[in-house]
Amino acid sequence: MANILLTGISGNVGSAVMDYFIKNNIDFTAGVRNVEKYKEKFPGINLVHLDFEKKDTFNRALEGMDKVFLVRPPQLTDVNRIFKPFINRCKQKFVRRIVFLSLLGIEKNPFPPHHKIEKIILESNIPYTFIRPSFFMQNLSTTHKEDIKERNDIFIPGGNARVSFIDTRDIGEVIGITLTEKGHRKRAYTITGCEAISYYEVANKMSNVLGKDIKYSNPSLLQFRKEMINRGVKKEFANVMTVLYLTTKLGMARKVTDTAENILKRKPRTIDDFIKDYSDEWI
Ligand SMILES: NC(=O)c1ccc[n+]([C@@H]2O[C@H](COP(=O)([O-])OP(=O)(O)OC[C@H]3O[C@@H](n4cnc5c(N)ncnc54)[C@H](OP(=O)(O)O)[C@@H]3O)[C@@H](O)[C@H]2O)c1
Repeated sequence: MANILLTGISGNVGSAVMDYFIKNNIDFTAGVRNVEKYKEKFPGINLVHLDFEKKDTFNRALEGMDKVFLVRPPQLTDVNRIFKPFINRCKQKFVRRIVFLSLLGIEKNPFPPHHKIEKIILESNIPYTFIRPSFFMQNLSTTHKEDIKERNDIFIPGGNARVSFIDTRDIGEVIGITLTEKGHRKRAYTITGCEAISYYEVANKMSNVLGKDIKYSNPSLLQFRKEMINRGVKKEFANVMTVLYLTTKLGMARKVTDTAENILKRKPRTIDDFIKDYSDEWI
């Protein structure tokens, strides 16, 4: 089996990719910022120090690696400073594939950093697999958890737009398959859940399952950006989020594909499955 480096294993998608490897007994190495912390949390996992903001960690982390699963941590927006050197180092270290966690619609949207990262990977000539998922269902149990739990409110500027939400557990499995099975080189996969629904419908579904009235307050883009900055989110990140919700309002997150189903060989999880499985998060 190839030597595979996973990044972002403590995050939404990376943890699901790691689960796939563990479940299927496939060897991997995880690149983490804080080896000591994760040694305790993930005993038995092969860890190497990798910090995208510290170029001197790249050589050791990439030593002997054939494939890399690359996550762009949300707070890192400077592609030329951070990801270009990392991808160049992958090339120097003879990495034979990068599976990159990108974003739905990125081929037509030059604003989010993923657009530039995909371009740099293409220019490097390293065979790639671009995973372009729709919005994560798990945003509701992470970024928006506190609003929902404490204020019974989905505070998202999504308007009436429909969104083809996907469960990160399914994204992780898709990535695990593309890293370990044949036939996924030089491919870009737009992966979504089976249906596109509005945040009003999400609020209704949550209210039914949780037995409390969850509303969707649907703030304006400007109100949302201001509130994120007030809450301590960095301006650059607040801007990226605001642009993403602008494109959502323009209908760019409603696309539904059967790509995840074809790769998983089963239907992706529904938002109802997700709300039931995670209900403890909001009670
Ligand atoms: N949310 C959505 O709906 C959505 C949809 C499509 C695409 N995406 C994209 O998905 C990506 C985020 O994935 P996610 O939600 O799985 O991430 P996440 O949960 O925010 O986790 C980020 C991971 O990156 C690690 N990390 C942070 N800074 C690092 C650094 N300097 N060096 C090395 N590792 C570092 C973190 O590790 P520590 O434990 O060290 O912090 C963590 O494991 C973003 O690029 C986002 O744009 C998101």
